[in-house]
Amino acid sequence: MHLYIVTGSSRGLGAALVEQLIQPEHTVIGIARRSNPALKAEQWALDLAEPLRAAERLQAWLRANNGWASATLINNAALLSAPGPLAATDLADLSAALRVGLEAPTLLSRVFLAETTSVPQRRILNISSGLGRRAMAGSAAYCAVKAGLDHLSRALALEEPAVGVVSLAPGVIDTDMQTRLRSADPARFPEQARFQGLKQGGQLQTAEATAAAVLRYLVKPDFGQNIVADIREA
Ligand SMILES: NC(=O)c1ccc[n+]([C@@H]2O[C@H](COP(=O)([O-])OP(=O)(O)OC[C@H]3O[C@@H](n4cnc5c(N)ncnc54)[C@H](OP(=O)(O)O)[C@@H]3O)[C@@H](O)[C@H]2O)c1
Repeated sequence: MHLYIVTGSSRGLGAALVEQLIQPEHTVIGIARRSNPALKAEQWALDLAEPLRAAERLQAWLRANNGWASATLINNAALLSAPGPLAATDLADLSAALRVGLEAPTLLSRVFLAETTSVPQRRILNISSGLGRRAMAGSAAYCAVKAGLDHLSRALALEEPAVGVVSLAPGVIDTDMQTRLRSADPARFPEQARFQGLKQGGQLQTAEATAAAVLRYLVKPDFGQNIVADIREA
């Protein structure tokens, strides 16, 4: 059996990934605060803003379940604090965004790497963003989280040469996250109009099409060769 652990599985890209990963030879575990009743996968209702709890749950589960032909961790969950300048962002929202976006992937990766050493093929796919590579005013914490994921991936690839590690920007996807960006207050968020234009110009990909492209990327024989990657250039 092939194991897939996908965070942010309740909606958006994560839900589409889980749906497309469900196959007879796959064990798929989704992690999010809410379960998605449409998904026929095991789902853990966990708040990744409490990453230690989530990592300990994964650690206990991996210790009790082994013998996998391959194991893949997809750190997909992210939380966007209300778009606006850092100085005006709610402190608790900011803290949650940093913990969900960067602390949780770091702790989950740590547990995954330590508990799957006997699995012949292992991959960590971090879902990054173009904003990890291009700074944007109004989303400083999100930019920092995604740049952090990119660099975490580079360092992990050095530590774990036998594990495929990629930080992948998935392109612009028609999900709740985009709704949040284009409905933000333009007085606080200078790029709001650009996000409205992307939607109006039909430039958003569906979550389903993006998930299919991400999963094609995941099975590429040279997965991990290019650690910081962009699906639009794949
Ligand atoms: N949409 C885009 O245009 C775009 C562009 C570049 C990169 N990305 C990246 O692609 C990934 C997926 O984005 P998306 O657009 O699908 O986002 P989304 O629609 O906002 O979905 C986010 C997912 O993360 C989960 N999540 C949020 N806070 C959580 C928490 N505290 N604990 C556990 N799970 C939590 C949500 O589940 P619950 O709310 O049920 O917890 C949901 O399943 C993210 O990493 C995002 O940064 C997206």
